[in-house]
Formats: sequence, C-alpha cells, structure tokens
Amino acid sequence: MFSPEGPSLRELAVQALSSVEHGYDLLAPKFDHTPFRTPDPVLDSVARALRRTGPFDAGLDLCCGTGAGVGVLARVCRESVTGVDFSAGMLDVARERVRPAGPRVDWVRADARALPFGPAFDLVVSFGAFGHFLPRELPGLFGQVRSVLRPDGCFAFPVVAPPRPGSLGYWMLLGFDVVMRVRNAVWRPPFVMYYRAFRLGDVRGELERAGFRVELMALPEFGSRGDGSPRVRMVVARPRPS
Ligand SMILES: C[S@@+](CC[C@H](N)C(=O)[O-])C[C@H]1O[C@@H](n2cnc3c(N)ncnc32)[C@H](O)[C@@H]1O
Repeated sequence: MFSPEGPSLRELAVQALSSVEHGYDLLAPKFDHTPFRTPDPVLDSVARALRRTGPFDAGLDLCCGTGAGVGVLARVCRESVTGVDFSAGMLDVARERVRPAGPRVDWVRADARALPFGPAFDLVVSFGAFGHFLPRELPGLFGQVRSVLRPDGCFAFPVVAPPRPGSLGYWMLLGFDVVMRVRNAVWRPPFVMYYRAFRLGDVRGELERAGFRVELMALPEFGSRGDGSPRVRMVVARPRPS
C-alpha cells in the first residue's frame, strides 16, 4: 500500500495519535506517497466530467491537502482556483509542488467548518476528506459550502460505492474504523477518520436539507458492480433558489 518513499509504520502511528490538523502537518512531506492522496485516475475522471458540466470561472478545493483537486480545478476554471485546508504543513507542500499553468492559484489556511469567503465561487470540489467529519457536522459543512457558492454554482465530489459485505475491502474498512473508534475512546485529542460514516443516501438527504438539488453522474471509467450500479459516481449539488 505504501511506496518506499512513504511514511514508516512508526511515523504513521505518531501521526494518528495527534489531532487531525497536526497529524497532517507531520504527514505532509510524505503524503503524496500514501494511498490517502486521491489517485490520478479518479482526479482525471472527475476533471472530464466537470468539463462536460462547466465552464467555470472561480473554483475552490475544500480540504485541498497537497493540492490534488487544485490540479483538477486548474483544468476546468478560467479565472482563479483556491485551495483551502487547515493543515499549514499540507499547504506548504501544495504551494511548492502544485503550480499549474492557467488560472491564478491561492492557498488559504482555514477550517472547512468556518470558511472565510463570501459567495465567490461557481465550483467547489472536495476529494477524500469527508471521513474527517462526523455525521452531525455535515449540515454545518454543507451550509458553509452553500454560503460560498454563487447562486448558479455547483458542489461536486466523487463517491466510491461501498465494498460488498464480506469482501476483503469491506473487512479492511470495518477494521480501520473500529481501530479509530477504539483509539478515540481512549486517547485525546481525537483523530476523526471514519471511512464507513459517509453514506451516499444520508449525504444526499443532508445536501437537500442544506438547500441543494442533487444529481448523480456515473463515472464510467470505473465500470459497474454486479447489480449494475456504478462503482464510482460524481455528486453534483446545486443551490436551490431561495
Ligand atoms: C485525506 S487528505 C485529502 C487531501 C486531498 N484532498 C487529496 O484528495 O489528496 C484530508 C485533508 O483534509 C484536511 N482537513 C480535515 N479536516 C479539515 C477541516 N475541518 N478543515 C480544513 N481541512 C481539513 C486535512 O488537513 C487533509 O489535508
């Protein structure tokens, strides 16, 4: 799972015993060599789908980390791209490594639950970060996204179908979440990262309650499951006129 340039088991353990913010500060220099960075095929597929949805002027990558999604936005936004994250370490790496040609790029350190922007964006994306939010935080998070979108803007993110119960992937995710729940029951500060808490049905309901109209687009590059449903979809949420 980890390349030789990635973190050692000891480094991962120290990071996982920190807060989310400080854990990512520590992980930042090696983050791009971990499976936690969104893989390029997912980024490319979302960029292709957004090209069919756009064009866009100003884009925001929520929880941008080392800038994986900023690269996507730079391909579909004409004027400006902003990456926001609360880890200064991740933003430092992003600033150094991600310098796309094209739109202006800004990096902003802020908590996604309290975004320091007005309604300035016509596209908000997010990759691989929703597991850091408890289900009870989603209404506030989605409310923040809605507040930074222009009325005709959209919020888009990929969602991978959960692994089939009993499969290796199912047991791996379950095992990871159980370990994190035990860790959070006995250790402070908490490190919230639960893979199984972000479920498409619930998320769709929360987006609708936050004032979005939700559409699901299959990302065809990833094929479909045995029951014919897509393996990976892109959620596209647009503000309902108030
Ligand atoms: C798994 S990384 C994903 C990074 C990047 N989006 C990617 O796909 O490679 C999760 C990122 O979310 C950030 N993050 C988690 N909770 C956050 C919050 N409340 N506000 C801002 N950033 C947050 C972390 O600092 C980290 O950079």
